[in-house]
Amino acid sequence: MSSFKDLRIVDNFYQTSAFFPMPTVSISTLAEDGSTTIGSYSLCFPYYIAGKARYAMLLECRNSSNTAQNILRTGKCALNFLEDDPRTFKEIVRLGFPGEGAKEKMKDNHWRLEKGLAEGERPLVVSDAFQVFECTWDDRLENAYEDRARIGQLEGVEPPYRDFNGITSKFGCHFILNIDKILMKEKYYDAIVNGVRSRDFPKVPVDYGYRDSTNFWYTRFSKARPEPIPAGKEADLQSVVYAANRLDSEIKFTEEACAQLVRVPRVFLKLVLNGCLDWARQNGVTLITAEHMKIINDKRNKEKRGK
Ligand SMILES: Cc1cc2nc3c(=O)[nH]c(=O)nc-3n(C[C@H](O)[C@H](O)[C@H](O)COP(=O)(O)O)c2cc1C
Repeated sequence: MSSFKDLRIVDNFYQTSAFFPMPTVSISTLAEDGSTTIGSYSLCFPYYIAGKARYAMLLECRNSSNTAQNILRTGKCALNFLEDDPRTFKEIVRLGFPGEGAKEKMKDNHWRLEKGLAEGERPLVVSDAFQVFECTWDDRLENAYEDRARIGQLEGVEPPYRDFNGITSKFGCHFILNIDKILMKEKYYDAIVNGVRSRDFPKVPVDYGYRDSTNFWYTRFSKARPEPIPAGKEADLQSVVYAANRLDSEIKFTEEACAQLVRVPRVFLKLVLNGCLDWARQNGVTLITAEHMKIINDKRNKEKRGK
């Protein structure tokens, strides 16, 4: 006999049939008069994360929302991530109440807004956000640009629907959003580039969605705690030395260099070693030492900084 009960899956299952932890994102878009308007969204996740020429997020939203209509029309939005504070979450819930036009909802908004860093005509970003992704809708996927012709159908859109980009159901919309810029507040920028400690994490709330037809439920941030990789999972040094020194007939690694790689999961080891070899070839190095590994790591950190 199972220790579980079989729960019926209904519309909006992530909040009606489950406890699903989600981020909270305040999305700014451009209203028709060129002003910035903000809507609250939780169904917003990384979509293309590596191995593509671009990075992208996925947003799932109601197709009649201001946000969806503005993205369909202008293709631009900014995903603003705010820290956990009950007053901020109160405002997030207010900005998440359906049915108000952009002017109406923004007249009471007291968040400071400023220009972002990406080029072109864009919505403003929230000054108090700890990070912002400035994005452009990838309307080429699934020929979703054709859905521009369906802007303004606010009572439900008739079929046909797309599978994953553009208008995907009578009331639904999915947007694949290419990330043009990631804006980061200095404190968190430094933490990402120099290495994080527990106190360097932004205080991010976890949203559990709209429940009991009355409330949005969320948990406050407590403390980030590190969990070391499982004991015994470190690769044996000699096996790393062996793997490292058979990849290239000319370029070799010292044991001290290999010692820095014992924590790399085995499935990624070859990729990491090849990265080191590429660096060695570019720099005319034939014996990679611990010092070189440090330079390679610093180079990675510089790349993170976009320099
Ligand atoms: C915390 C929170 C998260 C939300 N997440 C979503 C979501 O992921 N998708 C969605 O369609 N609506 C979501 N909503 C509801 C929208 O915010 C609501 O439809 C609102 O009208 C959108 O604003 P807009 O019309 O200005 O875009 C959420 C609301 C709150 C308060």
